[in-house]
Formats: sequence, C-alpha cells, structure tokens
Amino acid sequence: MASWYDRAIIYQIYPKSFQDSNGDGIGDLNGIRQRIPYLKDLGINAVWLNPVFVSPQVDNGYDVANYYAIDERMGTMADMEALIADMHAAGIHVIMDFVLNHTSDQHPWFQDAVKSKNSIYRDYYIFAGKNGRKPNNWGSFFGGSVWAPDPSGSGQSYFHLFDKRMPDLNWANPEVRLAMGDVAEFWLGKGIDGLRLDAFIHIAKGDLYQNYPTAGDDNEPIVAEPFFANLPKVQEWLRPFAERIKADYPQAFLLGEAASASVNLAVDYTSAYAHLMDSVITFRYFTTDEEALDDTLPHQYQPTSIDWHQFRETQVVWQQTLASLPTLYWSNHDMARLATRVAHSETEARSLAILMYLQRGIPIIYYGEELGMQNLQFNSSSQFADPSVDAFVKKAITQGKAKADALKMVSATHKLPARGPMSWDDSAHGGFTTGTPWLNGAASKTAPVSAQKQDKNSMLNFYKQLLAIKAEPVLQEGKFRLLDFGDSTYVYTRQTALETVLVAVNLTARDAVFTLPAGEYTALLSAGAYGQTGNELTLGAHASVVFQRY
Ligand code: GLC
Ligand code: CA
Repeated sequence: MASWYDRAIIYQIYPKSFQDSNGDGIGDLNGIRQRIPYLKDLGINAVWLNPVFVSPQVDNGYDVANYYAIDERMGTMADMEALIADMHAAGIHVIMDFVLNHTSDQHPWFQDAVKSKNSIYRDYYIFAGKNGRKPNNWGSFFGGSVWAPDPSGSGQSYFHLFDKRMPDLNWANPEVRLAMGDVAEFWLGKGIDGLRLDAFIHIAKGDLYQNYPTAGDDNEPIVAEPFFANLPKVQEWLRPFAERIKADYPQAFLLGEAASASVNLAVDYTSAYAHLMDSVITFRYFTTDEEALDDTLPHQYQPTSIDWHQFRETQVVWQQTLASLPTLYWSNHDMARLATRVAHSETEARSLAILMYLQRGIPIIYYGEELGMQNLQFNSSSQFADPSVDAFVKKAITQGKAKADALKMVSATHKLPARGPMSWDDSAHGGFTTGTPWLNGAASKTAPVSAQKQDKNSMLNFYKQLLAIKAEPVLQEGKFRLLDFGDSTYVYTRQTALETVLVAVNLTARDAVFTLPAGEYTALLSAGAYGQTGNELTLGAHASVVFQRY
C-alpha cells in the first residue's frame, strides 16, 4: 500500500528554540503554529517535533514525567490539538518524538517504584545488585556508571543508560510493553501521523552480572554497547507493539532512531516482513577522519572532518541495500550543525544538501539549516551544563591551549549549541522571543528569514528550489546509481522509465573535470561555479549541479 511517508520531506523542529509566543524565552506550540505558513512555503510536508511532554527538562524533554500531557512551558493539550489541525490543514504531517527506553525519575511509576521493594511498579524499572554494590562495570552514555543507588535504601541500584534522573524502563515486563503501546495509541488517536522512536535499539539489556572485559587494571565504567544495543529482544518486544499500531493506524509512520545500527541491522529493522520500523536514522553516515586529531586531548570535542572516501562508500551501500527508504540528513539536535561541523563555505553547504537530499530516501532538515545557521558560541564551560566539557577544557588548558580556544572547539562540536534560537528577523533575539532566550550564546551572522526571503540567491531560496525538485516523481521513485568518477566526486543518477536526473558534486576544493554519459543535459539547479561544453563537465571548488537528461 502506498503510504504518505514514501514521499515525506521532514523538517525537524526543536520546539524550545523555534518560536516563542508568550515572551518567556522558551519556544512553544503556539509559536510553531504561527510559523506554519513558513513551513508550507519551504516545501516540506512533515514535521518531527522533539519531545513536548511534561518533563523536568533534565535532558530537554527526553526525560518524560507524564506521557499524556504537554509540558506547560510548551503549551496545553488544546494547543497541541490546534497545532495538529492547523498542520493538517496546510498539508503537513506531524511526527512526535516517542521516548520509550526511559522515563524521568519524576514519573509516577518511578516515584512509586522507589518507595519500597514491594511497589507494584518496581518491575517497571531495572533494579539489581545488593548492599550498595553495582552489578557490573557498564558505563552510561552521559558519563559514569549506568547504576545509581535505589533511593529507598534497599541497597540495590537502578539502571540508567543516560542521565541518572532518566531511569530505564524494564521492557522485559509485558506490562511496560502494553503501557507504552497505550501511550503511542493515545497520540495516534489525537491524529498525529507518526512517531520517532527514541533510542529504541537500547530497550533490551544483556546479562546484568556480566562485566565488560577490561585489561583489569581500572574500575572506570565502560560504555558496553554490545550488551545494550541491538540485542535480539529489541525486535521480539517491538514487533507486537508495531503490529498493534499498524493494525489500528495503518498510515502511522514509525521512524526509529538507530544510532549505532549497521546497514544490515537497518535492513532487519525496516524490511516489510519484519513488522518493526518504516525507516531508521543511523549515525553511521558520518565517519570522521581520526588521523588529523590531536592525541594529547580527548577526541570528543575536537572539530573533525568527514572521511569522504568512507562517506561515499557508506552512502552507496545504504542507498542500494535497504528495501525501505533511507533517511537523508546532515544534522540533528544531537550533533553540531552542518554549517559548523562539515561545510566550510556556503557553496559547500549547498552542494552537500544537493548530494544528500536528492538521493533515494526521506530528507530530514534540521530547523535553521535552510538559512545556513551555525552553532552558537558559548564563552564559559558552565553554559554547556555537561561535566565532560569542564574536563575537556581543563585538559586543553594543561596542554597549553587558551581557554577561549578550547571553548571555541567545544562550541563547534557539542550538541547544545546546535539547538540555538531560530533566526526570523532583525529584531532583538532574531524575532525568536521578546524575552530572554532559554539558551544564550553568540549566534553566527546568518541572515534571518526576513532578509533571505527578499534575496533570490539566498540559502533559503536555494533550499526551496531544492525541495521543489525533490518533490518530482523521478526524485521520489527513481532508481539510484552511483557513476564512478573517483573519490573526489559524488555523481549519481536517479532514473525512472520516463526521466533521468544526474547529480554531480565536487567533494574537493580542486576543479573536477569529467565526461558525462551520452545525452543532452539541462541544468535544474547548481551551487558554485561549473562549466559545461558538450558532455564535458568542469566543477569548481565544492561545486555541484543537478541536470535533467534527455
Ligand atoms: C536520543 C535523543 C537524545 C537524548 C537521548 C536520550 O539519542 O536524540 O537527544 O538525549 O536519546 O533520550
Ligand atoms: Ca514560550
């Protein structure tokens, strides 16, 4: 059956930073509603909202205290219903973030679970160990151990893969599986069109009393991914969940965040016969070039460059291997922005957008990318609210780096400065708020929406043209094939029985010259300088061109 999401062009909105409607400095649902005409005009047909549920905001909404209500800073249930209705009226589908691996420690289930070992919610979470001893040496993604002491004083510990205020749910418990299915159905019943399943690959854990093997000389916790990522039970437990949703809402789009999933796992998760996800988001697209890094400093916050050779190979493998549609993206709320992390010029940013989004699959454009927005620049480590930043900056200073330079490095690589306020106009705070933005930092000089609208050569107008092309049948349905002109280029065709589009991108700063296959070529869109004489194509530094072939 054809589904709306086969033609989805998604725009990712970080609700806290998109548009504030009441001057409290925090973006909200009514703010998003005001901007629907902008979204429509851009040419997207779906939005993914990062979490808007009741939350203490330890992890900006990924710590949910009540799945059935909207955080009051974001608005009300009535606002959410109005947002869904207005989006639908504009032809835009709504995808909500669904945080299923963990809750907030303020969730009533957890509050009850830690009252006593006999709580009926005890088994909703993962408790283990005794006499204050941790069951294993596994490390949390957010630093330190995955174990925290049970506040009830039982001597047990509870499991948290992320912050200790985000206890993991026990998916081995069938009641949890049902309860989370109920949450999903509640929101689909409100009319939303899909769910982005946060961190779903982590819901199953291995033997809790198995240490991760170490050299044996330290007790530092280790991020033991093989013991809590992509285990077979993930599929066993999510299949009935997905089947229930599809039985009740056949058009619901299930988009899984599968950060560490290999292409083969992505095939397993998204094959039609698997009855799991419709598509997944992998983090494996962006292999960085590790050789260029300074080994005297932790690698985590050193700006990197992409290993383009590896990137090319990865893209083609994902394009050709998945029966489902791959997701196509350059950034999201968990990584530095495209214009900060990867692209060194506006031409390069445009060419990379052409390269990525015209491939086979579902574009996901991170808000502000269409303006060329960059990461914010923070001038103190405390703004990151992340202990790993303090550690990095201290270490950099002992290695002789200036503090300001160290903070520049972290600002360019950390996820938080990628979540800055959207830049709408020339007024204070870019028209995002009349108050003080919740996240403060120096913004880059990116021209705001108001100015870019007036300029026909702006990044914004370029994105509009690109998305209009993406909506064409040949770029929706066409077969993908890489034409191999060597490592410094990325050249591919999209082809249906009726039409062929050829996309040519120069990945380097040196001119690329090659001969196109026979045919007549008319340019639809380009970035940077190119020259065409007959079938001989010259692409200038980081230039690209999209051709219709006759
Ligand atoms: C996902 C989210 C990330 C969040 C984490 C825990 O990876 O994208 O922002 O911190 O899950 O929910
Ligand atoms: Ca607000």
